[in-house]
Amino acid sequence: MNLRPHLPTIPFIDVAAQRRRLGPSIDAAMARVLNHCQFILGPEVRTFEAELAAFCGARHAVTCASGTDALVLVLRAIGIGPGDAVICPSFTFCATAEVVALVGATPVFVDVDAATFNIDVKGISGAIATAKGLGLTPKAIIPVDLFGLAADHDGVAAAAKAENLFILDDAAQGFGAAYKGRKLGTYGQATATSFFPAKPLGCFGDGGAVLTDDPAMADMLRSLRMHGHGADKYDNIRIGLASRLDTMQAAILSEKLKIFPDEIEARNRIARRYAESLGDVVTVPTVPAGSISVWAQYTIRLPAGHREAFVAALKADGIPTAVYYPIPLHRQQAYRHYPVGQGGVAVSEQLAAEVISLPMHAYLDEGTQDRVVGAVRRALKDA
Ligand SMILES: Cc1ncc(COP(=O)(O)O)c(C=O)c1O
Repeated sequence: MNLRPHLPTIPFIDVAAQRRRLGPSIDAAMARVLNHCQFILGPEVRTFEAELAAFCGARHAVTCASGTDALVLVLRAIGIGPGDAVICPSFTFCATAEVVALVGATPVFVDVDAATFNIDVKGISGAIATAKGLGLTPKAIIPVDLFGLAADHDGVAAAAKAENLFILDDAAQGFGAAYKGRKLGTYGQATATSFFPAKPLGCFGDGGAVLTDDPAMADMLRSLRMHGHGADKYDNIRIGLASRLDTMQAAILSEKLKIFPDEIEARNRIARRYAESLGDVVTVPTVPAGSISVWAQYTIRLPAGHREAFVAALKADGIPTAVYYPIPLHRQQAYRHYPVGQGGVAVSEQLAAEVISLPMHAYLDEGTQDRVVGAVRRALKDA
């Protein structure tokens, strides 16, 4: 018989706790925009872009309407289209491959590494061969910094070099993380990120940005996000999009960026505590030496077949969980006709059956975390 007191369900990501911490500073930032009424590309957008670039060490930040658009804008900027292949992992959020299909190119799926969940660089040459065998031209690769952990960017760069592939880093989940002494935003030729509210640096709606050191790329992105403008907005020199970050969101993000370093530290403190309290009973995440994760998700692995009961047991204890991702992209209805690189995607298949993410955010206090740990340990003992 369960004699534990019935405790309220905790949040999976506590956006409201951060809102409380920011308090009047956010209200004041929003009020400034409401007063000057420059809702599209107002001064706060330029200010935030400068702050964002300075934060990660990239020369240019160009904001846009979402992380998905950030990826699309880069693929458009470099002219990827029909007949081109873009290599990406299968174990990721759909947007990584969706953008490739949206510009008319072909995603070629590569497996991920079992320890880091990030692209397995050993599969890249096989994916290039698969693409060529299909008569496609391999043009780019999109490594993903999944769950907030940087991909093996040195390995990706080495594998991309042989074919001169353009590297577009999908840091939608990883912005703020570091790899070998540098923050993400400076690996590859361009980095895309998302400000979706649940992301480590999220806004109060949709938003995204591209980071790049290349001034010509930054100019092209600024044109593309505003209908392909030339000298002015009624000079249309290319086909573009309407994809701007709202001024209101930029004002909010500037306030959030101020506390972001502190939040990254908190997330790492919480992740260390999870590892110490659960490492003896489940496979906890691996962080390679030289990496600092931003912990967009805290994802553990359970033996296959145990997940359903585990989720139910935690739910009964008021602990929400999430499965990122239950179906790898190469098996999704919208993507299963796209090729898988030689070498296959066995690890992606296995992870999709085993992973489960626990509550993780910068405001998870020790008492609440102990509730999660206690529930996980009980669920595993009862399994
Ligand atoms: C890996 C990855 N890429 C791209 C995106 C797309 O970002 P957005 O939702 O802002 O369009 C997301 C987030 O949802 C993501 O997790």
